[in-house]
Amino acid sequence: MSTLGPVICVVGARPNFMKMAPILRAMAAHSPPIPVLLVHTGQHYDKDMSDRLFEDLRLPRPDVNLEVGSGTHAIQTAEVMRRFEPIVDAHKPSCVAVVGDVNSTLACSLVAVKKGIPVVHIEAGLRSYDRAMPEEINRILTDQISDRLYTTERTAEENLRLEGIPSDRVCFAGNVMIDSVVFGRANARSAKETLAACNANPAVLNHPLGYGVVTLHRPSNVDHAETLRDLLGGLGDVASSLPLIFALHPRTRGNIERFGLMGMINPDCMVFLPPQGYLEMLGLMAGATVVLTDSGGLQEETTALGVPCLTLRENTERPITVEQGTNILVGRDRTAILTGVQEILAGRGKRGRVPEYWDGHAAERIASDLYQWLMGKQASQALPLEVK
Ligand code: UD1
Repeated sequence: MSTLGPVICVVGARPNFMKMAPILRAMAAHSPPIPVLLVHTGQHYDKDMSDRLFEDLRLPRPDVNLEVGSGTHAIQTAEVMRRFEPIVDAHKPSCVAVVGDVNSTLACSLVAVKKGIPVVHIEAGLRSYDRAMPEEINRILTDQISDRLYTTERTAEENLRLEGIPSDRVCFAGNVMIDSVVFGRANARSAKETLAACNANPAVLNHPLGYGVVTLHRPSNVDHAETLRDLLGGLGDVASSLPLIFALHPRTRGNIERFGLMGMINPDCMVFLPPQGYLEMLGLMAGATVVLTDSGGLQEETTALGVPCLTLRENTERPITVEQGTNILVGRDRTAILTGVQEILAGRGKRGRVPEYWDGHAAERIASDLYQWLMGKQASQALPLEVK
């Protein structure tokens, strides 16, 4: 019988949910089961951005919801810290497990480390080397204060080594995001069902070359009117040869409206949908001719699904998706975006292969290693000092 305190598992924003779901399943299935307390910070709170994903991924209801909501980075981070601290005090966890790179990831890690509670970071070591991205700051700082770091690809180990993180803290476990793809694939909703559920124009599915899927939400792409106008212009060029389905993040929809850019959307070949559930997004991606995105997760999911992906960024923290997968970085250049799509439509899209340990079993490897690690820590703490 384990005497471990609970592992506090933290989720906050949409990309956390698909990473944490398989970890919770693996911890419950571990022998003995690993005790867990699930904390949702409430960074994402809409039904579309949060509740629906819990249902699709069969995530249990959070034990605690901190309900922090939106705010500036400082306010959001500070609120998570303020509300998370009493939870840590009350539950005496064996460690705090965080995933990914959102503000909640860093905020909860900071609270834990200052209380001497071990921090476990899943999806550690990814680097875009672009410090203008808020996520890059969250990644660097979280890794620096983590005691156990699980990586998804080999380059991450090298990034951590260069930042002075001892290699015995790092474990290459594979990609938990792909565990969720494997888990959800059989139940993915078809694009036809998804468009019907949103009362969207189904004619975009009748094109002989198929359809493209678009997601955009990075501040660097959507927060400036000129940049967003150029990107929508580039996507308009694409839509004249391939219909596009956009799943719109609230930040992006708000900015398109605020900057008066709705008129750039041609409803005959461009369809706007609200943020989608996980099973809808999986079905849309699996059936797409190409995915155009600035999301980190979609770069990985398209590689796992073997669907060509054009990333509308200058860099990626997930280089394996370019080296081995189906991803190509096209940046924001209109010509590069159109040329990338035309190559795919001409049958010259990247095929790629699925990287090592992106096999649907990453969470099991993490649960098994984490249990051993926590038991080892517990045993070493129980030893008298002189025989250590
Ligand atoms: C966050 C993450 C990003 C992740 C993205 C996925 C950080 C720094 N960024 O960015 O890494 O890729 O989530 O979605 O943590 N909003 C709603 N409803 C919601 C959530 C947000 O309307 O449920 C609106 C709010 O007006 C908010 C804006 O979207 O101001 C942005 O939300 P926020 O959590 O600040 O960051 P994201 O852009 O979603």
